[in-house]
Amino acid sequence: MYTRFGLKAGLQFSAEIPDEARPAVENLVREANTVLFRKGVPKDADEREVGRIAGWQAEGNRLLLDLESGTYTRVHDALFRFRKQIAPTLGKFRLGLRVIEVLDYTVEMKGEFPEGLRIPALPFIKESSLAGDTLRMRLDLTAADLENKVPDRIVRLVEEKIQAAGYGGKAEHWDLVFESGKKPRTFEGDPTEEMIRRGWVRHALSRGQWIHGPQSTQLFRAFEKIVMKEIIEPLGFTEMIFPKLVPWEVWKKSGHAKGVYPEIYYVCTPKTRDPAYWEDIGDYFKVTGEVWVDEIRKRIDGPIGGLCYAQCPSFWPFIQGETLANDCLPARIFDRSGTSHRYESGGIHGIERVDEFHRIEILWLGTPEQTVEIADRLHEAYVRVFEDILELEWRCARVTPWFMAQEGMIETEDSCGCGCGSRIGTTDYEAYLPYSESWLEFQNVSINGDKYPSGFNVKIQSGAECWSGCSGIGLERWTAAFLAQKGLDCENWPECVAEIIGEPKELFRFL
Ligand code: SER
Ligand code: ZN
Repeated sequence: MYTRFGLKAGLQFSAEIPDEARPAVENLVREANTVLFRKGVPKDADEREVGRIAGWQAEGNRLLLDLESGTYTRVHDALFRFRKQIAPTLGKFRLGLRVIEVLDYTVEMKGEFPEGLRIPALPFIKESSLAGDTLRMRLDLTAADLENKVPDRIVRLVEEKIQAAGYGGKAEHWDLVFESGKKPRTFEGDPTEEMIRRGWVRHALSRGQWIHGPQSTQLFRAFEKIVMKEIIEPLGFTEMIFPKLVPWEVWKKSGHAKGVYPEIYYVCTPKTRDPAYWEDIGDYFKVTGEVWVDEIRKRIDGPIGGLCYAQCPSFWPFIQGETLANDCLPARIFDRSGTSHRYESGGIHGIERVDEFHRIEILWLGTPEQTVEIADRLHEAYVRVFEDILELEWRCARVTPWFMAQEGMIETEDSCGCGCGSRIGTTDYEAYLPYSESWLEFQNVSINGDKYPSGFNVKIQSGAECWSGCSGIGLERWTAAFLAQKGLDCENWPECVAEIIGEPKELFRFL
């Protein structure tokens, strides 16, 4: 991609720029074009790529600058470098720099634009046109936006979208790591339907939400026990409680703010908790039997964030900005304190594809070696549980890292995910569902590299790089996988599992 930038800016001074100041400005412009703007530019760089002031004019108390650049010392960087010099120079003429006006900002990108490319629709992009190999954008920016590097980010965004469109339709990364082979199957049905038939679960009133009866809950708790005894305790994880309402601040740092919007359950707060302000809303319900949603919408603030989505991001503020003592590493913790929520739209099915689900989230951090070692030990423990205890038909595969998928990023050859030799990435564990002849992802193990420690500014005493990993164990998914293969009759369950679960308890009888 070949990119050019054009910027017309006005520097407003406290008084009219006198004629006798012109030679000083002329000198400074020449100096900037030949020296100042070349600082940090590679020696062999093409001259036309480097930012320069192509023209200037003094008009009343404004100094109008016409800047252009390619990729080095982009026009906005050039402008701020120049500002630093011009302020003291004109200061000698008793002129103070008051305001920087951005009069016009254009970007021209030349290259190959894949079909279906969506030019970002942002308020900063006043106009855009794509014709052949050229994309032209006219930006609407303030000086603060320029200092905040918004133009660079817009260009990067377009480049990302070009890449994404180029990979469009390409399935997510998936590489088989292990396959258990066939196991005896004693059931062919859809476990949810059978659970409903037997009264183990019932639809709740929100979409993709279930009320788990005693029998289903017994299964969840039994699996939790197995996880505790076989995995969490032997590997030395300690329980914590992570918040389940996630403010934007967390998702800005975790990267979810880049793309999780279509799946969030948003959270709003009342504009006031004054009962008088809300009285008519309650009265409306009393009179009509309906909740006055349109009116409620006008009386709430936010959304301030959303309900728990990925479970581990909410942990990180606990150690944000800290340097961890060597002797507390590798830190190993887990959370099972609440539900996760995803707006699954069309995808909901049974108890396994739901909007509200229960998960044990395991999280660890330390040096890269420590992080990788724990991931390996976790994997071994999972293999033991699925093979020797649950006797599942399962497999695992290296997939697009969950944090990239959740950010809406695509995995390309050069993104450090799978396939590049790095250990950073996600392994999905999938169980076979005989009733649908498909595989269900029921948990994952991920090495997340320095993504979280750097997002939340966490360091290690020794100065070693800090890495982290996490593993989400989906209880609905374990239950669906186990029942889909073993059925609902406990005499067909592996003996030790049947013992932990116990006889399914019938609490309710309906007339
Ligand atoms: N945080 C990871 C995820 O959301 C593991 O649970 O997939
Ligand atoms: Zn996680």
